[in-house]
Amino acid sequence: MNKKINAAVFPVAGLGSRFLPATKATPKEMLPIVDKPLIQYGIEEAADAGITKMIFVTGRNKRAIEDHFDSAYELEAELASKDKRDLLRIARSVAPKGVEFVYVRQSSALGLGHAILCAKPALADEPFAVVLADDLIKGDTGAVQQLITASSNNEGPVIGLEAIEPHQSRAYGIVEIRERIGENVIASNMVEKPNPEDAPSNLGVVGRYLLPYEIFEVIENLPTGSGGEIQLTDALAVLARRDGVLGVSLQGQRFDCGSKLGYAKANIEYGLEHSEIGNNLRAYLAGLVG
Ligand code: G1P
Repeated sequence: MNKKINAAVFPVAGLGSRFLPATKATPKEMLPIVDKPLIQYGIEEAADAGITKMIFVTGRNKRAIEDHFDSAYELEAELASKDKRDLLRIARSVAPKGVEFVYVRQSSALGLGHAILCAKPALADEPFAVVLADDLIKGDTGAVQQLITASSNNEGPVIGLEAIEPHQSRAYGIVEIRERIGENVIASNMVEKPNPEDAPSNLGVVGRYLLPYEIFEVIENLPTGSGGEIQLTDALAVLARRDGVLGVSLQGQRFDCGSKLGYAKANIEYGLEHSEIGNNLRAYLAGLVG
């Protein structure tokens, strides 16, 4: 995929029911990792990779996401009048400079493939990134940038991969490997959430994708798949069987923030590096295990 990636799609319409009651009135993407909402990490990762158009596929009860990336006049005026400059700077820097936000709605929960299809009217005929904010990837280079770098000579889709334990296959799209290129692979097929005995490899898709615009035509013609939903993995499988799909082994530590344990671990790891609380948290944790 040689063309520059200008746009990223963030599917954020999910109910987040695994985090009830926290998500009863708050979008799960707004849950903080220390002091920053999960979705903001995803936006920053995309912006760091040069992406300037952020497309949210939202649903009911997701207004807090729109408010978060908008200016907050009363808050800013209050902080300015009290001369709280550091806090004012934090409040004002939520939306990266030069970035445009677009909101489209997914009115029914018909799956990830359907959510991506909802973003079609907001995109020109161009390749685009998809970021699933639940998958928080902590590393020196952002995961979207890793995909872009690895894709240099590749016109087709590029996906992030991670080795998983066999018993976890029911939680992931799993690739069938045609060829290994260093740490990366060319996938010849993909299966959404197979049983361990049916998994074609131990490489699971994590929530980062670069997709060609033609994926829309493929999604439009898909039958429903796993869980009775329109699956992005099934659309990618069509392209994998035809031309292959580049799978990039992502560097960094991934936290599955769609699970309570992954979310708790992310809070600890990011907390340990936080300038304000890192040292005290480290001492506290040492005391717990000491
Ligand atoms: C989605 C995708 C799956 C992928 C996973 C990564 O599943 O459908 O292929 O492996 O994200 O997090 P979900 O976690 O939304 O059920």
